[in-house]
Amino acid sequence: MNAVDLVIRSGKVVSPDSVIEACVAIKDGIVVAVGAEAAMPSARETLDASGLHVLPGAIDVHVHFRDPGYPHKEDFESGTAAAAFGGVTTVFDMPNTIPPTGTPEILAAKHKMAAEKAHVDFGLYGLLGEDTIEHVPELAKTVIGFKLYMGNTFGAIPTPSTGVTLEAFETVALTGKRVSLHAEENSTMVNRETRMRNAGRVDPLAHLASRPAVVAIEAVSRAAILAEWTGARIHILHISSAEELRPLREAKARGVDITGETCPHYLVLSSEDYARFAGVIRVNPPVREKRNQEPLWAALADGCVDVIATDHAPHSPEEKTRNDIWTVDCGFPGVETQMPIMLTEAAAGRFSVCDYVRWSAASPAKIWGLYPRKGVIQPGAEADIAIVDINREWTIDDAKLQSRSKITPFHGRRMKGLPIHTLVRGRFVMRDRVLARDTRGWGRSVHTIQRLPPPRPQNTDQTMQAILRAAPAGAGERGR
Ligand code: NCD
Ligand code: ZN
Repeated sequence: MNAVDLVIRSGKVVSPDSVIEACVAIKDGIVVAVGAEAAMPSARETLDASGLHVLPGAIDVHVHFRDPGYPHKEDFESGTAAAAFGGVTTVFDMPNTIPPTGTPEILAAKHKMAAEKAHVDFGLYGLLGEDTIEHVPELAKTVIGFKLYMGNTFGAIPTPSTGVTLEAFETVALTGKRVSLHAEENSTMVNRETRMRNAGRVDPLAHLASRPAVVAIEAVSRAAILAEWTGARIHILHISSAEELRPLREAKARGVDITGETCPHYLVLSSEDYARFAGVIRVNPPVREKRNQEPLWAALADGCVDVIATDHAPHSPEEKTRNDIWTVDCGFPGVETQMPIMLTEAAAGRFSVCDYVRWSAASPAKIWGLYPRKGVIQPGAEADIAIVDINREWTIDDAKLQSRSKITPFHGRRMKGLPIHTLVRGRFVMRDRVLARDTRGWGRSVHTIQRLPPPRPQNTDQTMQAILRAAPAGAGERGR
C-alpha cells in the first residue's frame, strides 16, 4: 500500500463489541486499516496513542447552535468548537433559530452558513409544523430529519394540533426521513403554568411541577399511535422519566419504527439539585426526582433507549440567573461534557466503554442511515475519532468551556475521562486540548451520505392528500 496520511499507534480501539489494542491507518479521511503494528503501511505522520482509548467520535443528534438568531448564546463556529473539545464529530442541529428552519430558502442559507463555520460534520433538522408541511418534499432533500414540537419550549415554535401532526406524519412518511419529537403534551403544561403563576409560584421547583411526567407519557403514546398509523419513523428526544419508557417499549414491541434518546442531565442530576443550581438547571423536559435515574440507565442497557444525546441548549448567564423561574431561558450546554460525564460513569463500573460507543456513535449512525460510513472505526469508515484518556481526573469549570454559554449545572463536578484529540475525516480539529486553527469550514453536511431504508407509508388511501385528490370537483361547496 502507498504511504497513508496518519497512523494512530498502540491505542485501545473501541467498538460496541470489543476493545482491542491496535493501530489505525488513515488515508484521505478514510480508515484504511485497523490492526497490528507490523501490518501498518508507512505513514506521513504517526500519533502515539499508548495508554489512550480510540473511540468512534460521538454523534450528537440533538444540539441547538442558535445560528442564525442568537449569536450571544452560540453560533455554528463556537458550537462546533465545543463539539470538537467533547469528542463529538457529528452534530444534528435543531431548527428553533431565527428564522426557524422551515422553508427551502432558509434551509439553503443555513447550509451555507454552517459549511463556512463548522469544525465538525453536521446534519440540519427541518422544522415540521402547520406552516411547513407544504415544504416537506423539498426540505427532505437536504435535511437529516425533521423536528416537531408537541410542547412549548425555547423559541416559541407553535405546537401543532393532533390533526396537523397526523398530516405532518403522513407527509414525512412518504420521504422515509425520521421525525424527532419534543414529546410533552402542551395544554397540560400551559394550564399548570398559568395556574401556578396566578398562585404566585416563581421558585425553581415550580417548573418541574408544571411539566409532570404524564405530559411525556401522553405525548409519547399519542406520537406512537400516529406513527403506527402513518408509517412515519419517529425518535423521542430527551426522555426524562421512568414512566414514558413504557409507551416507548410497547410501541417498539408492536413494531413501530420508534427510537429513543436520553441525556446526561437526566441520568446524573435530580430534583435535589434545584436548590443549588436554581434557574441554571431549568430545562425542558425538567430534570426529575432521583427515582427516575435507575430506570433510565436500565433502559439504555436493555436497548429501549437507543442513544445518548445532549440537547446542548446554550443561554447567557444573565438569561439563566433571573429570580422569577418563568423568565429563565430553558436549557444549558452539554455537547462538550457528555463524553466525560459518561466515561466517568463507565469508570465507576456502571457500564463498559463498549456500551458507551454503542449509545453515542454506532446507534445514532444506524438510526439516521450513516452507518458504516460513520459511527465505527473500521476500514472504509470516515476517520471520525475521539482519542480519550479514561484515567484523567479533572473538574468541570464552566469558565473553561468553548461554548459561549459559560453556565451549566455540571460546574464543579469531578470527572474521570477526557478527550485529548479529536479527528474529523482524518483531520485534527482538536489536538492536545487545543482547537485547530485551520478547521473552521472543514465540517460538512452528512445528508449526502445518508442511506435510509425505503419509506413504508401506511393507510395511504386515507391520508389528507389522498382524500383531497379523490374529492369530486365542487364537493366542498355542496357539502356546506
Ligand atoms: C431547548 C432550547 O433552548 O433550544 N431548551 C430546552 O430546555 N431543552 C429547546 C428544547 O430542546 O426543548
Ligand atoms: Zn426539546
